[in-house]
Amino acid sequence: MLAPALTVLSLFSAVGLCNLYEDVADLPGFQYDFVIIGGGTAGNALASRLTENPNVAVLVLEAGLNPGSDPNVAVPFLSGGVSANATIYSWNYTTIPQAGADGIAYPFSRAFMLGGCSAHNGLAYTRGADSDWDRYATISGDSGWSWNSVLPYFKKAEQWTAPSDNHNTAGQYTPSVHGTSGPIQVSLAGYTWSEFQGHVLQTTKELPNEFPFNQDPNSGKPLGIGYMQSTIGNGARSSSATGYLNSTVLARSNLHVLLHAQVSKLVNPVASRVVPSEPTAFGGVQFRFDGTLYVANATKEIILSAGPIGTPSILMHSGVGDSAVLKPLGIPVVRDLPSVGKNSSEHPYGGLQWPVTSNQTIEALYSSTSVMDSSMAQWTKSRTGPMVDAPPGPMLAWLRLPANSTTLQKYPDPSSGADAPHFEVLFQPSGLDIYGPGPYTPTVSLTLGLVSPASRGSVTINSADPFAAPVIDLGLFSNDFDASAFAEGLQLITKIASAPNWKGYLGAPVLDISTMSLDDIIAHVRGASGPGYHFVGTAGMSPRGAQYGAVDPDLKVKGIYGLRVVDVSVLPVVPAAHTQAAAYVVAERAADLIKSQWNL
Ligand SMILES: Cc1cc2nc3c(=O)[nH]c(=O)nc-3n(C[C@H](O)[C@H](O)[C@H](O)COP(=O)(O)OP(=O)(O)OC[C@H]3O[C@@H](n4cnc5c(N)ncnc54)[C@H](O)[C@@H]3O)c2cc1C
Ligand SMILES: *[C@@H]1O[C@H](CO)[C@@H](O)[C@H](O)[C@H]1NC(C)=O
Ligand SMILES: *[C@@H]1O[C@H](CO)[C@@H](O)[C@H](O)[C@H]1NC(C)=O
Ligand SMILES: *[C@@H]1O[C@H](CO)[C@@H](O)[C@H](O)[C@H]1NC(C)=O
Ligand SMILES: *[C@@H]1O[C@H](CO)[C@@H](O)[C@H](O)[C@H]1NC(C)=O
Ligand SMILES: *[C@@H]1O[C@H](CO)[C@@H](O)[C@H](O)[C@H]1NC(C)=O
Ligand SMILES: *[C@@H]1O[C@H](CO)[C@@H](O)[C@H](O)[C@H]1NC(C)=O
Ligand SMILES: *[C@@H]1O[C@H](CO)[C@@H](O)[C@H](O)[C@H]1NC(C)=O
Repeated sequence: MLAPALTVLSLFSAVGLCNLYEDVADLPGFQYDFVIIGGGTAGNALASRLTENPNVAVLVLEAGLNPGSDPNVAVPFLSGGVSANATIYSWNYTTIPQAGADGIAYPFSRAFMLGGCSAHNGLAYTRGADSDWDRYATISGDSGWSWNSVLPYFKKAEQWTAPSDNHNTAGQYTPSVHGTSGPIQVSLAGYTWSEFQGHVLQTTKELPNEFPFNQDPNSGKPLGIGYMQSTIGNGARSSSATGYLNSTVLARSNLHVLLHAQVSKLVNPVASRVVPSEPTAFGGVQFRFDGTLYVANATKEIILSAGPIGTPSILMHSGVGDSAVLKPLGIPVVRDLPSVGKNSSEHPYGGLQWPVTSNQTIEALYSSTSVMDSSMAQWTKSRTGPMVDAPPGPMLAWLRLPANSTTLQKYPDPSSGADAPHFEVLFQPSGLDIYGPGPYTPTVSLTLGLVSPASRGSVTINSADPFAAPVIDLGLFSNDFDASAFAEGLQLITKIASAPNWKGYLGAPVLDISTMSLDDIIAHVRGASGPGYHFVGTAGMSPRGAQYGAVDPDLKVKGIYGLRVVDVSVLPVVPAAHTQAAAYVVAERAADLIKSQWNL
């Protein structure tokens, strides 16, 4: 595949960034009020909020690298490449063979860098349905997780920003549901694929009952077709590293961030009498730097923000997890919490492609080194052109199964409510072969995600070595609802493409499902889909005192004093949304819960 000519621009070197440590020898100390494990999406947001108070000392331990201003990370168009497996920024995980998905073992991308997955993801900014959040309130027994309670946190994290082409955005979003002064920039697409988008919009006029226009899918009522919102500002990626750990925040003397520090486990468990229901506390956090082990201590709290794979792994290696897993590995059980690592959920994605009678697709860039290079040069010079947007595309839809759906007649409905989608459709002005060697046929994709899956998976460990890779089971299509619903979703996509206006623009579909039976489509789906990377739930919330679950609604690990989880692991069910906005909400609310508990 052709790649634009890139040079790694100067990495952070500006003055004022001295609190970002590349070497443990430079770290001023090993004792802090709070030690945050993982400088990812949620971890950096929490660190930034806690250190607003100059009397609070925070250490962030991040295993990965500092991407600095590496254009592979900063340029939205390139995110498909930087999030691939086997880059310097990847943990290089592979799932176990997925029995529901033809036994395929998927490479499972997770970011190994400051900013975590917010620094390599597809930049889609989506919040889910109000009923997703109301369901969290019900599951956790805490109304503080309801949509009305978290909407202020969505806004607090957000800085609505004009798109980089400064086009007129009236009617393309609803200002009142957005924040304008938070650290994470969010904007509409800054480059228009006018021909393709024209067809998408025309569909809302020709088939308004099934596919209505929705002015703002992030209002809590997502159903319909609307414009994509992305974590992009001035044509560049806005991540937890660029947003929450900007130069002003990193200059705070009470915030220290150590890179290349991989946490192995929590150590020195001691009896604690502070809270009767939390009889144990950990004395420190053990981490490895350049082959040597160190311990950092937290006088107030240790916070796990290592993401939905790292967090349950660290808990289990620390003796907090299912004793039936820990004992055979010889790991001393500190707290038997069988739910740790269980009940995870993930979105499968797949879709359909059509060649088009037009050259206005992304293949035009991949077909020509000079077009690709000039597009990159345009981005560098003026932050405009096709590089300002990300692969998920400029428009999207959130849809439900039809009321007479075969799947809904057969299985219970796992969605959170009547206004919550079963599906996401990404309208992408490119096909799949841009990732191959070419030649490139102009193609468009209607990419489908099942955003209300019934399947559940898990993360566990099979070694006492904390540096060994964990065992990841996404549970993809393990519940038969999912493949059946997905197959009906592909039929819905075909219906979109059958709206009259697409005629003459779309060629014959790459795969024609119109002649296939539902069972044949189901069989196809199992082998032709993959993870959406929205994995959550491996340290799920449950009500205080519940016999299951990993954390209480205030995100404290059950039975342990001074230990919280602040990342997407705590979401007991995946929202009908891409999950970075949820990570920021978890961090923003956690910051307030922690500040309130410690009077900070
Ligand atoms: C390829 C891909 C594409 C995606 N696309 C989108 C999208 O378009 N829109 C969207 O909203 N969401 C998207 N997501 C999902 C979203 O980005 C994540 O759900 C979210 O960022 C997770 O945040 P987190 O804070 O829970 O974890 P992370 O951001 O993963 O942070 C965890 C951090 O902890 C560090 N860490 C882990 N273990 C250790 C350890 N032992 N010691 C020290 N540090 C450790 C990691 O290196 C990482 O920096 C995507 C995810 C992926 C992987
Ligand atoms: C990454 O994953 C893809 C898809 O499974 C695979 O074809 C490819 O070989 C992998 N690349 C590396 C370098 O592991
Ligand atoms: C993942 O693989 C790449 C390519 O081999 C490597 O550079 C990187 O260091 C690996 N990541 C980790 C966390 O080991
Ligand atoms: C960095 O973020 C802080 C807190 O959100 C904000 O007050 C400050 O203005 C930002 N600084 C820069 C240089 O953007
Ligand atoms: C951290 O705590 C351990 C006991 O839990 C203690 O031995 C060690 O000295 C402490 N380290 C620092 C830097 O305070
Ligand atoms: C999974 O979550 C459900 C509720 O969402 C709960 O009833 C069940 O006990 C959980 N299972 C485990 C193993 O935690
Ligand atoms: C696309 O561009 C090529 C080369 O310029 C041209 O030959 C072809 O006719 C164009 N196709 C369409 C559908 O415009
Ligand atoms: C559902 O109804 C639509 C028309 O409203 C029809 O086209 C479709 O075939 C029906 N599907 C099933 C499974 O009955």
